Amino acid sequence: MKILTIGDVVGSCGLNYLQDRLWQYRDKTGVDFVVANGENVTNVRGLSRADAEALLRCGVDLITLGNHAFGMKDLYGFLDEDERIIRPANYPAGSPGNGYVIRNVDGWRILFINVQGTVFMEPLNSPFEAIERILSRESGQFDSAVIDVHAESTSEKLAVARTFSGQAAVIFGTHTHVATADEQILPGGTGYITDIGMTGAVDSILGTVTENVLVRFRTHLPAPMDAAAGKASASGALFTVDPAKNTCTALSRISF
Ligand SMILES: [Fe+2]
Repeated sequence: MKILTIGDVVGSCGLNYLQDRLWQYRDKTGVDFVVANGENVTNVRGLSRADAEALLRCGVDLITLGNHAFGMKDLYGFLDEDERIIRPANYPAGSPGNGYVIRNVDGWRILFINVQGTVFMEPLNSPFEAIERILSRESGQFDSAVIDVHAESTSEKLAVARTFSGQAAVIFGTHTHVATADEQILPGGTGYITDIGMTGAVDSILGTVTENVLVRFRTHLPAPMDAAAGKASASGALFTVDPAKNTCTALSRISF
């Protein structure tokens, strides 16, 4: 089973790029399931319902989110009702939506979990305890697990991966928008990469308008966080999974 994970899609530039290219890429690589982090699609700081539906039409099977999960209020109902989108599981009880879902992929029950880091980010509940609870609650109900750790700190993402190595086939990181070169198969057979990068404008800073980011860094004056436009690229990782064994047999960073 091939699972493609696509890094944080930024603005209409990233969304339009996937609209043009993702189905073609799916066909070429024979991907069975596509996960994309979509929390930066609408004005960088959120995802509207219309943009969520558009992203799903691009060939994305599951949207994961992060610290901007609740940036657009019109998404809340969609989060509650649609199994094609999840938000970090370690938000307080009562938050809109679900932190995990079990999806049928080619007859296999694949558990997808989304958590958010707490280092240099909001002080949410422990991502470790959230994952532990879900794995324990759903024990016997899934064949293989895939976890998106949306976090700033590289060590926190690796700590999550080391903790749950052997309990998930895939653990990948999102949020920094910069891909890391540490893709590896951990002891226990978990395919892991600290960050899969982003999908959006190439001429940018993390997908946003360079000039505005420079204003903030150099003058500390406020400047809008707008998505950049122009030439785009997509970044992610492709995992080959053995669902019967809940392990990863191969992985590679990809861009298209
Ligand atoms: Fe984020």
